[in-house]
Amino acid sequence: MTLASWKQVEAEAKRIAGMRLQDLAARENVAEFVWAAPHLEADVAKQPIDAGAMSAMEAVADERGLTGKIKSLFAGEIVNASENRPALHWALRGGGKGIPAAEAMAREAEKAAAFAKKAVGGGLGFELKTILHVGIGGSDLGPRLIWDALRDYDSKGPEIRFTANVDPEDFREATSGIDPKTTLVIVVSKSFKTPETASNAKLAREWLVKHLGEKEANNHLAAVSSAPDKAKAWGAAEDRIFPMDEAVGGRYSVWSSVGLSLQIALGADRWGRFLKGGGEMDAHFRDTPLKQNAPARLAMMDVFLHSALGIPTRTVLAYAHRLRKLPDFLQQLEMESNGKSAADSAGGLIGATAPVVWGSVGTLGQHSFHQLLHQGMRQSAIEFVAALDAGAGDKARGRELLANAFAQAEGLLAGRSAKEAEAQLTAQGKTGDAAKEQARHMNMEGGRGSTTVLLEDLSPESVGALIAMYEHRTFAAGVLWGINPFDQWGVERGKVLAEELDKAIAGSDAGKRDPSTLRLVERARGRFRS
Ligand code: F6P
Repeated sequence: MTLASWKQVEAEAKRIAGMRLQDLAARENVAEFVWAAPHLEADVAKQPIDAGAMSAMEAVADERGLTGKIKSLFAGEIVNASENRPALHWALRGGGKGIPAAEAMAREAEKAAAFAKKAVGGGLGFELKTILHVGIGGSDLGPRLIWDALRDYDSKGPEIRFTANVDPEDFREATSGIDPKTTLVIVVSKSFKTPETASNAKLAREWLVKHLGEKEANNHLAAVSSAPDKAKAWGAAEDRIFPMDEAVGGRYSVWSSVGLSLQIALGADRWGRFLKGGGEMDAHFRDTPLKQNAPARLAMMDVFLHSALGIPTRTVLAYAHRLRKLPDFLQQLEMESNGKSAADSAGGLIGATAPVVWGSVGTLGQHSFHQLLHQGMRQSAIEFVAALDAGAGDKARGRELLANAFAQAEGLLAGRSAKEAEAQLTAQGKTGDAAKEQARHMNMEGGRGSTTVLLEDLSPESVGALIAMYEHRTFAAGVLWGINPFDQWGVERGKVLAEELDKAIAGSDAGKRDPSTLRLVERARGRFRS
């Protein structure tokens, strides 16, 4: 471990770990811990950080050259060393002029937009009622999140069904009740070699051919990939293949043709506003000094909480029904980006990297796992995400939703001592040992930190800005951790083993493996030997 600036961070962490968060959070300068950005603000005043901790993290950012790395990102330079690529997802939001690859992406985006317009206008030769989006991981989680976040429940336009899992029940459910005659299947796969997507694409084609015949089936198919040749070989018509650039990572790709189903179903206006919001966050991240740069400061805080204070997990609680897929999306974005242990920059690693990210939608989590967040013995860095137009016009319920988010954050921080609980019980007429004993179980130590990310509203611009904020925060945290946030070599081994075990269960020689795996193969052979 050679990052000189990390020593001071460890000293700050030791100091803060010795303080009561309730005292630290009783700040006079709360505003200093509210980091604003386009369409949102992040209130981190209830987190175990202060000016000392942040200035120590700024020194780490300087030593890691974060400002320079941000410049490299937006200059289209190689920021993904192990794959020798730039990362150009941001260029899909209107930036990247002068960068040839970005200009090519803009041309591809026009082609996709023209197709989207044609599709909703009946230009495909059939009335479009449903889009079956076939993809997994980054080719699925972003589109699902944004469809839920921005769809118009009263729209007469096409709806989107998603299928991702190799479990054929997923495909059956996704196609239940829809008519192939009015369905467009979009197969989305950056590599066009992901087994689950290949399997569902095959099911989708068979489903179309069975009901429409070979020729018409092709008219109900489109493909999105950075391997257009593979899509063509699979049988997608050339004018139905929408390329995406290799320099756009799967988990950063919703802005590309991967979002074609969204462009069609949400319409050009909402799609354009979504991109615009993301572009505004890009400008903030690119042009704002680190001291006022919200995604960069959130990344500094994340590294402090998880690597200096050692908080093992991060709990994302989306207090908006429309953002219910946010925790799933962030699991891939943050854990596939920063779940790494190979150093990628001078100075090496500074300690444990990405936390385990998990979460749910508020207020559902309150009636499920919040018990542990309040009284359990495991710490987590909690993040509430809410919007000021909560309730979508129903003021009373919107107010109630926000009140719950704020109340959970307040309760986690303040806690409630056994003494306070006993007083409450006494006031309710319970006295003596019974009150004391129950109060013992009602003790809540508090001092549990949280961030509240507050969106101006749930407009397409705000949702775009939110997702772009998380992307930039993840990138900045990767730089601070000294790892490469854009590759994902760790996912390949499982795919190879799955292919081998598929053959083994079907009856071929299983080869040399651990006894448990051999036993499991044997167990399944009874049912699946071909
Ligand atoms: O296996 C992980 C992964 O490669 C992700 O990085 C990616 O988003 C997902 O699988 C799907 O990949 P593709 O879009 O190439 O089908």
